[in-house]
Amino acid sequence: MSKRRTLVAGNWKMNGNRADSTALVNGLKQGIASVNNADLAVCPPFILIPLAAELLKGSAIAVGGQNLNVNKSGAFTGEISGPMLKDAGCRYVIVGHSERRALYGESDDVVAQKFKAAQDAGLIPILCVGELLEEREANKTEAVVARQLDAVLKLAGIGALANAVIAYEPVWAIGTGKTATPEQAQAVHKFIREKLVKADKAVAEGVRILYGGSMKASNAKELLAQPDIDGGLIGGASLQVEEFLNIGRAA
Ligand code: PGA
Repeated sequence: MSKRRTLVAGNWKMNGNRADSTALVNGLKQGIASVNNADLAVCPPFILIPLAAELLKGSAIAVGGQNLNVNKSGAFTGEISGPMLKDAGCRYVIVGHSERRALYGESDDVVAQKFKAAQDAGLIPILCVGELLEEREANKTEAVVARQLDAVLKLAGIGALANAVIAYEPVWAIGTGKTATPEQAQAVHKFIREKLVKADKAVAEGVRILYGGSMKASNAKELLAQPDIDGGLIGGASLQVEEFLNIGRAA
């Protein structure tokens, strides 16, 4: 089958204000016409989502959240739910980013619940998986990624992956400038897809698996050329208009 359509999603993390987000989004809007072979999405901080969604209304660039609460509404001070993100104009939401897992104690179980809450709200979850450096060095990469995927498969079922995106993000490559080599990344992407093939071949062949971790315009082409790499989840490089567009153009 032909390769899946590339998705390049920008994870702005806790960066930006109204002025620079407006400039960034308007720049992307102007440049999108020259990105022919990739879908683009931006995931701003919660408070900037309405601004981005308003500016991007009618454009081909989608908006996503970076996190959500597992509940729909209620007494959860400081939290944001899936239905709220949907209502604000989001199409996607990142779940289980390694910073959420490491800094905010999100377990595989909580991540699976968030994945399900996202789909229940009509959002497409971008499920992040990936190993720590010490796990890679101990040859545990596949076991860790399998464990993270299994938590979601157990709760949501393989069918749910038909309406989701996976992002493989080796933790040691995030924000470090250290990218996985295309071969290292491809090996794990292939492992993920083969694991899913065992559950449902059609779902496995259709699901987009993004790479994340210091991906930028200069290394995007090689990574995106790998048979099982279907796009990127971009942190730092998504905050610069031309850099982000050039990752899309590399597809
Ligand atoms: P990075 O972040 O591109 O800055 O390494 C990627 C991510 O955390 O999603």
